[in-house]
Amino acid sequence: MALVPFDDRDGWIWLDGAMVPWREAKLHVLTHGLHYASGVFEGERAYDGNIFKLREHTDRLIASGKILGFDIPWTADEIDAACAAVLAKNNLIDAYLRPIAWRGSEMLAVSAQHTQIHLAIAAWAWPNLFGDNRMKGVRLGMAKWRRPAPDTAPTASKASGLYMIGTLSKHQAEAEGFDDALMLDYKGDIAEATGANAFFVFNGEVHTPTPLCFLDGITRRTVMKLARTRQMKVVERTIKVDELKDATEVFLAGTAAEVTPVRVIGEHTYIPGTITETLLNDYEALVRMSPEEVASRAA
Ligand SMILES: Cc1ncc(COP(=O)(O)O)c(C=O)c1O
Repeated sequence: MALVPFDDRDGWIWLDGAMVPWREAKLHVLTHGLHYASGVFEGERAYDGNIFKLREHTDRLIASGKILGFDIPWTADEIDAACAAVLAKNNLIDAYLRPIAWRGSEMLAVSAQHTQIHLAIAAWAWPNLFGDNRMKGVRLGMAKWRRPAPDTAPTASKASGLYMIGTLSKHQAEAEGFDDALMLDYKGDIAEATGANAFFVFNGEVHTPTPLCFLDGITRRTVMKLARTRQMKVVERTIKVDELKDATEVFLAGTAAEVTPVRVIGEHTYIPGTITETLLNDYEALVRMSPEEVASRAA
């Protein structure tokens, strides 16, 4: 597959309040966010022209910035409107959106109190993270890197710096012939994949690790709600590596991954089953409901 570089595409990117031609949305090399990872971002998906859970993503973006010690100089309403405008300007209906905020180039040292905070929003067509592999179930290797403790890194933030160990883990997994990696937490218990939360079926119940040192994903919470609506028992708890052999189904949940069945984790093999399939279908139906339909269901 030919790769189209991300800096050489047609289209428009929202940058600090203006719609900029895609190729002109550039930064200086002495940007604090590049040197010290002072950036926070979101990953969103639009389905049929509606951005799924847009306000939740925007609120998390703003909260992530606050955790890194900065205020994004745009309100949630303004950010939501900018996301919708990017989608429309690029004539996208089904798309992935990437808002990102970062510290600028006014200061370049560890201390960066007086940097300007920038915000950019891009959108592009991006089918499921795992592409054609998804329905077959993806294969996960075990990551060497562990999710850090919440007093070691700002783990509640969707901060760029936290993805360094994600990239290393994913590259290691790919080099070993897997699709992705399952990461443990700092205690050695199961955490999540490199860009999605993990779910396990034990005795017909849906279990997922408690998100104490990784993102409590918006998709994760949505899937838990869908499972409860189906009268499934949902349990958040510490899940030990030893328990991997007892799971009957495993799946991932995330904005990019959506609901993706897992077929292999290291030496363990799973057959995607009815619980995974039900939740996958329920999620696909929910994301394509119009906002009015969602509201009327909630009422
Ligand atoms: C590391 C990581 N965990 C979990 C998730 C799932 O979060 P969400 O469902 O909010 O997209 C993501 C994706 O954003 C992620 O990058």
